[in-house]
Amino acid sequence: MAMRPLGLIRLINPRASFSSSAVKWEGGVSMVQGASRGIGLEFVKQLLEKNEKGHIIATCRSPNAATGLAELKNKFAERLSILPLDVTVESTIEESAKFIQERYGSLNLLINASGILSISDVLQPETTLSKVQKSSLLYAYEVNAVGPILVIKHMWPLLKIGGGSGTERDVAVVANLSARVGSIGDNRLGGWHSYRSSKTALNQLTKTISVEFARRKDPIVCILLHPGTVDTDLSRPFQRNVPEGKLFAKEFSVQRLLSIINSAKSHDNGKFYAWDELDIITFVDITHASTELDNTTTVIVCRYMVYHLTA
Ligand SMILES: NC(=O)c1ccc[n+]([C@@H]2O[C@H](COP(=O)([O-])OP(=O)(O)OC[C@H]3O[C@@H](n4cnc5c(N)ncnc54)[C@H](OP(=O)(O)O)[C@@H]3O)[C@@H](O)[C@H]2O)c1
Repeated sequence: MAMRPLGLIRLINPRASFSSSAVKWEGGVSMVQGASRGIGLEFVKQLLEKNEKGHIIATCRSPNAATGLAELKNKFAERLSILPLDVTVESTIEESAKFIQERYGSLNLLINASGILSISDVLQPETTLSKVQKSSLLYAYEVNAVGPILVIKHMWPLLKIGGGSGTERDVAVVANLSARVGSIGDNRLGGWHSYRSSKTALNQLTKTISVEFARRKDPIVCILLHPGTVDTDLSRPFQRNVPEGKLFAKEFSVQRLLSIINSAKSHDNGKFYAWDELDIITFVDITHASTELDNTTTVIVCRYMVYHLTA
C-alpha cells in the first residue's frame, strides 16, 4: 500500500488551544520512562521548560544514542539526569530507583511513556488471527504492560514519600501512556491483537494498582492517558489512514496531557483520559454497558456520565 506523503497530512498546530500555566512540580522530582524519542522526549522537554526548578530523571535503553536527551542535557545540565533503563530488564529499574533514592529520596511524578507497536522481524500489528504469534504477543505484553508495572512497583516507596512533600500538590502522580485501542468497549475494528491486548492489560494492571493505593491511603494517583494519534516513529507506518486534522504534533499532545496530569486529583485515581480531557473512558462503565447498547451509544453515554460525575 502506498504511504501518504507526510506533506499532505495536516498536523494540529502545537500552539493552538493550550493553557500554558506552570506545572505543579516546581521544585519536585519527575521521572519520564521511555524518554529517548517521541512523546517521552517531548515530556522531558516541556517539564524542563515549564518549570524553573525541579529535577527530571529521563530513562531510556541507550543513553549514548539518545541525541535529543543529550541536547536537553546541554541546556539543563543541573536539572536533568539520564539513566539507562530497559523495562524488560528488572535490574535496570532497580538501579534507577536506587539512584533516585540516594539523590533525591522521593518522586513526585512518574510518566511511563515507553511502548512498542511494530518492530521489523519481531512484532507486526496483526490484521488477522492467522498472523498472531506467541512470541509477538508475549513481547508486546512484556514491554507494554509488564514493564511499566514493574517500574511503578520499584518507584512505589519513593512515590509514597513524594506524594506528601516537595511540591504544591498533596499527591504524587503516575501517568501510564496507554492507547484508546486498549479499551474493550471501544473495539470496533479488531486487529492489532498484540498491541491492543497489551494495552488492555496495562489498563487493568493500572486500575488494580490504583485500587490498592486508594485502599492503603497512599498519596498516589494513577491515571492512564491516550495521547491521540501523534506524529512519532510509532505511528509513522500507519499515518495514511489517519483522517485529515487528526494527526497531532507531539508538542500539542504533550501540552494537553501535561494539563491533565497537572490537574489530577485523588478522585482521578484509576481513570483513563484521552488527550482532549472530556474524552474520558472508564473500564467498568464501557465494558458493562456494551452488552446492552451499541458501542457508539455506549461511548457517548459513558463520556457523559464520567464528565458529569467528575466535573
Ligand atoms: N504515537 C501515537 O500515535 C500513539 C498513540 C497511542 C498511544 N501511544 C503510546 O504513547 C507512548 C509513546 O509512544 P511514541 O509515539 O512516543 O513512540 P516512539 O516514538 O516509538 O517511542 C517509543 C519509546 O519507547 C521506548 N522503548 C521501547 N522499548 C523499550 C524498552 N524495552 N524499555 C524501555 N523503553 C523502551 C523507545 O526507546 P528506544 O529509543 O530505545 O527504542 C522510545 O523511547 C507508547 O506507550 C505508545 O503506545 C502512542
